[in-house]
Amino acid sequence: MDMRRPIIAGNWKMNKTVSEAVDLVRQLMGLVAEVRDIDIIVAPTFTALHAVSREITGSNIDLAAQDVFWETSGAYTGEISPPMVKDVGCRYVIIGHSERRQYFGETNESVHNKIKASLAVGLRPILCVGEALEEREAGKTFDVIRIQVFQCLDGFSREEMGKITIAYEPIWAIGTGKTATPQQAEEVHAFIREQLGNITHPQVREAMRIQYGGSVNQDNIGDLMAQPNIDGALVGGASLTADSFSRIVKFQKT
Ligand code: PGA
Repeated sequence: MDMRRPIIAGNWKMNKTVSEAVDLVRQLMGLVAEVRDIDIIVAPTFTALHAVSREITGSNIDLAAQDVFWETSGAYTGEISPPMVKDVGCRYVIIGHSERRQYFGETNESVHNKIKASLAVGLRPILCVGEALEEREAGKTFDVIRIQVFQCLDGFSREEMGKITIAYEPIWAIGTGKTATPQQAEEVHAFIREQLGNITHPQVREAMRIQYGGSVNQDNIGDLMAQPNIDGALVGGASLTADSFSRIVKFQKT
């Protein structure tokens, strides 16, 4: 029996006004209301979190923020703290997405700090890792992933580690329509799980959910989820319509 409950998250990125976000989540709620065996998460922009949170109260959909700062409050113009996203109803927070790393100077160190601050208020971090195309072509995928996993996650207690999910997102597969093959993804997922053995208890390593992200859609989700170490998906483009995201949530393993 699979001990890891599937987790499918929709990362809406910088899309949707408040009313569009409310419309989307209302439609989605209707389409996935019967789903019981999957954790379903949506990650709207900060500006839509509160409104979406009100809509999903009591439903089977959870809320995530797309990022967070590591301080609790203070003179940090433009930033949002973990207690603030908790306050608007987030249960999860995506941390270290490659777009944050690429465009906003996110480093493994800042990611570590953000995970720590999020755990401190009871949020469940979704840590994103993944290699760039040049890194893959240079044969450096495993080195890059090992360093990201180690630097972002080292030093957390067994209990803290139990609250974390990892999303493996090869940068070359994000928004490009170029999905990693299920075998390519599985290879890295298995490697991540093996690496976790160096920093945490074997039970935590086995229980940790590892999501795949990068051009996931209704047609490839089944093959991906059939892999032993792929426990879910982090979906960008295909999470922006209720129809396509609900089809991903209701995937059938092949
Ligand atoms: P995509 O994005 O599904 O549009 O490739 C995935 C992500 O960046 O989380």
